[in-house]
Amino acid sequence: MSGCLTIVGLGPGDTRWLTPAASEALAQATDLVGYGPYLVRAPERPGQRRHPSDNRVELDRARYALELAADGARVAVVSGGDPGVFAMAAAVFEAVESGDPAWRSLDIRVEPGVTAMFAAAARVGAPLGGDFCAISLSDNLKPWEVVEARLKAALSADFAIALYNPISSARPWQLGAALSLVREVRDPDTPVVLARAVGRPDERITVRSLSEVEPSQADMSTLLIIGASTTRLIERDEGRGPYVYTPRSYGVRS
Ligand SMILES: C[S@@+](CC[C@H](N)C(=O)[O-])C[C@H]1O[C@@H](n2cnc3c(N)ncnc32)[C@H](O)[C@@H]1O
Repeated sequence: MSGCLTIVGLGPGDTRWLTPAASEALAQATDLVGYGPYLVRAPERPGQRRHPSDNRVELDRARYALELAADGARVAVVSGGDPGVFAMAAAVFEAVESGDPAWRSLDIRVEPGVTAMFAAAARVGAPLGGDFCAISLSDNLKPWEVVEARLKAALSADFAIALYNPISSARPWQLGAALSLVREVRDPDTPVVLARAVGRPDERITVRSLSEVEPSQADMSTLLIIGASTTRLIERDEGRGPYVYTPRSYGVRS
């Protein structure tokens, strides 16, 4: 039997956010490949083989999954959130492009998942209701100058901005540098959403003004949403956080 490979988005945490199509792809796989903590989120199936790996070996993991599929396995590569957003789908295609030409004949599919920025946005209202963009602050695979140029362009275009990979022990200063750039352009009262571990038991969502945000309030499980100039708060009763939303209209006079 010929093998196949599906890169499956598990969503950010809550298993109810796993799509039925993603569940089906997991159930049909003979082999599951992925970062260990993500693999444990896939339901156990008798006879299914699991191949956990470390977090920072995406290309090796992708090549291993392709080899398994080329040997006839039905492989599911699991990925947190959506596999196409700073994740395993691109790693698999990078491996295909530079790898064994036979891999190009494999049936390779991508099953989408809920990405962290949509789960985070949904928790607070609709901060991504107007135009927005997503930027990874990781400079592991691109120079920091590129991150900076993209952030400046997004700021000058007045996008709401989702920041993935804001900080880690190996990348301690990048979020502070990014916030300095944001503060040069955006109002100190701009709403900023800090969404940590959305959909997991240790979820923590806070809404602060730009002037109050500190890098120490984020970790590698945090996603930030920086509001655009039109992003605003709707205050609620004491003890309940505000709604955060960005209207669909921009500069339209009534
Ligand atoms: C390598 S990226 C993977 C993104 C993932 N593919 C997605 O679509 O959400 C990892 C970054 O995604 C964000 N992230 C992933 N899961 C999250 C969650 N449950 N809550 C908040 N942020 C999350 C964090 O910014 C983290 O540093």
